[in-house]
Amino acid sequence: MSFTSEPTQEMSQKPSHSPAQDLKNMTDLVSLCKRRGFIFPSSEVYGGINACWDYGPLGVELKRNVKNSWWQAMTAREDIEGLDASILMHPKVWEASGHIAGFSDPLVDCKKCKSRFRADQMDPKVLTAKKCPSCSGELTEPRQFNLMFKTHMGPLEDSASVVYLRPETAQGIYVNFLNVQQSCRQKIPFGIAQIGKAFRNEITPGNFVFRTREFEQMEMQFFVKPGTDMEWFEKWKHIRMQWHLDHGIRKDKLRFHQHQAGELAHYAKAAFDIEYEFPFGWQELEGVHNRTDFDLSRHQEFSGKKLEYFDEEKKERYLPYIIETSAGCDRTLLVTLVDSYRFDGERTWLELHPGLAPFKVAVFPLMKKEELVQYSQKVFLDLKKQFRATTDDAGSIGKRYRRQDEIGTPFGVTVDYETLTQHTVTIRHRDTMAQERIPAENLGRYILEKFENWNTSKTV
Ligand code: GAP
Repeated sequence: MSFTSEPTQEMSQKPSHSPAQDLKNMTDLVSLCKRRGFIFPSSEVYGGINACWDYGPLGVELKRNVKNSWWQAMTAREDIEGLDASILMHPKVWEASGHIAGFSDPLVDCKKCKSRFRADQMDPKVLTAKKCPSCSGELTEPRQFNLMFKTHMGPLEDSASVVYLRPETAQGIYVNFLNVQQSCRQKIPFGIAQIGKAFRNEITPGNFVFRTREFEQMEMQFFVKPGTDMEWFEKWKHIRMQWHLDHGIRKDKLRFHQHQAGELAHYAKAAFDIEYEFPFGWQELEGVHNRTDFDLSRHQEFSGKKLEYFDEEKKERYLPYIIETSAGCDRTLLVTLVDSYRFDGERTWLELHPGLAPFKVAVFPLMKKEELVQYSQKVFLDLKKQFRATTDDAGSIGKRYRRQDEIGTPFGVTVDYETLTQHTVTIRHRDTMAQERIPAENLGRYILEKFENWNTSKTV
């Protein structure tokens, strides 16, 4: 089979394209996401609600693919079990974890325009001058603002009924450590993986789904024998970086950032962030932390229940250390969109990894003629058994290609008059726009082979 790049209708009309550019500003991505059904502003008919977003038909598919890839990478291992803990937990959990006392940001208010700012993110000169950056009004002194959302459980709204929406999924894992270990007869070292919603009343949310007040986390806590913790910490740092590279995220856009003494969380002995270079700068995508035995010893202390692990072979009892990998699901999805966005002055396309793309292939009849539509429907239904596929017969073939390019569908298949007699179809590659003619019956095998050999084999 020859690999040709014969000019298509669209290529011959628009012969010169400038080199592909990356995403320059978030507005272009926000607009594509709304236009194509990835992400909508929440409650839009009421004017929206600040920093809340709804995932549309394609967004939910992309998000599910991100989550499935993470879940598969974690739970396919013999030494990791899954968990889905409750969002509402006993309020003492948050006392033990340190969230009630310390999960806060310093906040300043403008007395005139009522804007709120995070004091730790402000220019120190502005803070000393106490002048509002928006209206030059007077700023208040910084005060601590707890980021946990509070609600009440049951009919009474008194202090005894206060519960919190979890600000991280990790605590559900710690309090279930022995339940999982004993029910699954796991031996240390082993891990527990969980994907779920978390809530934070962020003072400065923004940058689309980068920082929101309701988001999903993909967290894994790996329980190890003290003394082996730094070895496991290094292993997990590399495993997690490789996972992002395996999705085709460009290597030069990813880096590690090591937390220095002043940055380390109260529970951490060592911490690295995996950072991505967004159009708004390098920012955290995922955290890898050595949390020592802080969490288990605190829950042991606050609950009065022993949480020690008993090593049957060595007849040893101890509190394990924990290596945590904590990724934001929405933030990972944002990285896949930002990293794959391309624009050449005419055409916008998403170079999504096929494993993440909402649709793997789109099938089109060249024209809306009955015999072409019928044949194309047959090809579509056949491919649908193997891949998530879509079909479209509205508008010019060029426009239909562009629509699929914008949602990152790796392949487009066109059924034309030659198909009716020769039983061959044209398959078009999203990233190069190159086209090949192949027997219709080979399509499934052809696409599968291309996916299996997708060029993302970068290593850390
Ligand atoms: N259990 C540890 C923990 O929660 P974190 O650094 O606060 O650590 C982990 O959060 C990850 O969760 C971050 O790297 C980020 O991807 C995601 N995340 C945190 N806050 C977020 C927010 N407000 N909106 C979206 N994602 C967020």
